[in-house]
Amino acid sequence: MPLLPGQSPEMLDRLRNMDLPASFADTALGNLENNTSQVTLNGQPYNVIRPGELYPGVWGWDAAFHAIGLAYGSGERGLEELEISALGQTEDGRIPQILFYDAELANRTYYPGPNMWECESANGLPISGLSQPPVYGFALEKILEIDPAAEQNEDKVRELFNVAYNYQKWWYEERDPEGTGLVVSIHPWETGRDNPIEWDPIFKRIRATDEFQDMPFDPAVRKDIRIDEHGNNNAKHRPSDEAYKMFTHLLHKVKDNGYSIKDADGEYRKDFPFAVQDVTINSMLQASNEALIRLSERYGTPEQQRELRRWGTQTRESFNHLWNDEAGAFQSRDTTTGKLTETSNGSFLALATSVPSEYQAARMAHLLDDWKHKHGVKYHICSSPPDHADFNTERYWRGPIWTIVNYVAAEGLLMQGARFENPAILDKGLEVTLDSLELVQMDGGAFHEYHNPVTGKGCGAKSFGFTSVAFLDLTSKLTHYKTALEAAGEKPGGTTVG
Ligand code: DGY
Repeated sequence: MPLLPGQSPEMLDRLRNMDLPASFADTALGNLENNTSQVTLNGQPYNVIRPGELYPGVWGWDAAFHAIGLAYGSGERGLEELEISALGQTEDGRIPQILFYDAELANRTYYPGPNMWECESANGLPISGLSQPPVYGFALEKILEIDPAAEQNEDKVRELFNVAYNYQKWWYEERDPEGTGLVVSIHPWETGRDNPIEWDPIFKRIRATDEFQDMPFDPAVRKDIRIDEHGNNNAKHRPSDEAYKMFTHLLHKVKDNGYSIKDADGEYRKDFPFAVQDVTINSMLQASNEALIRLSERYGTPEQQRELRRWGTQTRESFNHLWNDEAGAFQSRDTTTGKLTETSNGSFLALATSVPSEYQAARMAHLLDDWKHKHGVKYHICSSPPDHADFNTERYWRGPIWTIVNYVAAEGLLMQGARFENPAILDKGLEVTLDSLELVQMDGGAFHEYHNPVTGKGCGAKSFGFTSVAFLDLTSKLTHYKTALEAAGEKPGGTTVG
């Protein structure tokens, strides 16, 4: 990837001067290991990783990102993590939002636990009834890039390629009611972003229904609100009770239909209250399509190659339906009204695909600039728009920064920078990388789940998997660019990295 003549001196200075404590990478890998438990599933021993202290299970997109982070220690271990996630796959191909590796623990410490979901994987393990952004195929390719030695285990890679392929197929066969290649999500938990400002108008519509109003909900069922070691309650960092009533209501809606959005005749139902072409899910679906198309040359059958290319073309061509030119970003689309929603940090994940044109990539880089420099915000990338009246710097997805989202966005900006050779796009990729690393550094090795975009303060769980993975990958990118800068005698200009 090139550093360009137009690269800003400010960014090059930051790149040159950013020194990270060497021990942080060990801590990041250590976090993943410390979040690991040895369990027996269907008679076999496994090392399962929970995302962090609030979450006693294997989460779908967390596990795929953990696999990328683990590959910085050993690609073999990264593949093992994908293998564990695959234990949760359903007969029809869905990788679940949550695989509960210890049902008793999850029922006791997490809401909603397996007793509430009443759902099973193909091999009888307790799972939730939803999915999450499909990072699986994207992660498989990343592991092989980070540690090419992992490819020696060709049978294992082929097996995981098939898991990833069947997962993509599930999205296209079970979640594409409009037949456009833009798939639909039916629950905020599925998008991985529970409570961004983006969903507020949809929640408002649902809240006005009698069905919602008549539903009894006791917030005491929640187990995510805790008192920490300093006696502080984390409630102001977590979604509100009102949001939890919504999540529960939507859970009942999908559960009542057997976790499918089709009717008994296999026709798509049109009455799901939350039916969104989520920008995160569609971006990761396309990023995984593109990764799997490349991998299919070695691991796929001719039919799989054909199908992947077909899905990839269809989703890429339809993606412009999610482009809001006024906002200068891709946005999710509410299929009930046909309207685009709001910009969020999820909007920038589309950059990690071949979808954006140079114009779109440059507009998104510009929008990021606007978000960072006009609203008291000091770090990239807010999870909800900082100029919105309901922006909140510390409440889950209503403002705080998720460095794992930054990682995918940075990956995308650097990729678009190389594609289009526009220094502003590449510059923004470097800036997102540097901001994310600075946040983790300021956090002093605590690796919090998310960060306040104004003060940089860490919030949520500590020693968090997502943050550890983002740190490991972005550190490797930083090293890459610093080496290029040094090799060019510290003068940018046509310097090629890697
Ligand atoms: C939670 O429990 O907070 C998760 O976001 C659901 O996936």
